[in-house]
Amino acid sequence: MSNEDRTLDGFAARNGADDWLRAEIEDVLDEDFELELSPPSLSDELTKIYKKSHPNALDRLVYFRELLRLQSELIKLQNWVAHHKEKVVVLFEGRDAAGKGGVIKRISQRLNPRIVRVVALPAPSDREKTQWYFQRYVPHLPAGGEIVLFDRSWYNRAGVERVMGFAKPNEVEQFFHDVPEFERMLARSGIRLVKYWFSITDEEQQMRFMMRVHDPLKQWKLSPMDLQSRVRWEQYTKAKEEMFARTSIPEAPWYIVEGNDKKRARLNCINHLLSLIPYEGVPYDEITLPERVFNPEYERQTL
Ligand code: ADP
Ligand code: AMP
Ligand code: MLT
Repeated sequence: MSNEDRTLDGFAARNGADDWLRAEIEDVLDEDFELELSPPSLSDELTKIYKKSHPNALDRLVYFRELLRLQSELIKLQNWVAHHKEKVVVLFEGRDAAGKGGVIKRISQRLNPRIVRVVALPAPSDREKTQWYFQRYVPHLPAGGEIVLFDRSWYNRAGVERVMGFAKPNEVEQFFHDVPEFERMLARSGIRLVKYWFSITDEEQQMRFMMRVHDPLKQWKLSPMDLQSRVRWEQYTKAKEEMFARTSIPEAPWYIVEGNDKKRARLNCINHLLSLIPYEGVPYDEITLPERVFNPEYERQTL
């Protein structure tokens, strides 16, 4: 494929995209053209590797249409949550580069940041380390009419903190003991808690890290933790299995999202989230635009 073929125009022409859809893609979904937007020399090689490992990649036009449909459903969900003062918490967990950030971005993309917000906490400070473990997460929980998306969560203790040795074995054990009760308290307080694990294979993680190494737009995503997660793949697998076994409760079971195909994973996850919540249309007043008021003082001002 020549570099020209990789442009949005080339894509739109080949797929017969309507003008409006092309404009939508260009405006807000450009990240989904990552292979096309990468530096050409890198892109040729990576595109080859990517295509080989994703022979059944979802057609992009199908993906964009479905994503836009799901995003309009998310707006209905948002309006329902706001109207009924519902409280929703969604946790996104998974290995490094599993695609948590990608799905969170697409869920929040068209929603009101006052209603739907993302929480991605940094490593705990020295002061936070002396607190009750759940304390630093609690202030971020939703009030009525809010949805909070956690990009990683209190489950760090069962994953990265355990595997990297940031938490002592007795602290991990205490966590496993406490977390079901903590989550039942949240449920009893009226919070709908949903937990997703993004699952990717060893090979896929390796490829995504490679892309992060080579792509200047992605290098920021690659952390020392990520490199260790390659070395400690097996330990993460064991940690994950114990986490599922001990923390899946009827009030908040774990749902696993197959993450190797990023686009399918996003659509599946959003679709599933929508299916869990019994939202419906809420009444709203018909909007009429007010007449513009003519003000001679104002009219004289020019920029
Ligand atoms: P991410 O993959 O979320 O972009 P990193 O790979 O850098 O971020 O780190 C993974 C997780 O490990 C983060 O949630 C981070 O807060 C946590 N973490 C990093 N260092 C420590 C630490 N010293 N103690 C506890 N948690 C840590
Ligand atoms: P995970 O991200 O841990 O859910 O891993 C999911 C994928 O990785 C599955 O397709 C598994 O087959 C594969 N996998 C998990 N653990 C291992 C392992 N120890 N060795 C090789 N493949 C694994
Ligand atoms: C991750 O899973 O590490 C991040 O969400 C980055 C990504 O979207 O792949």
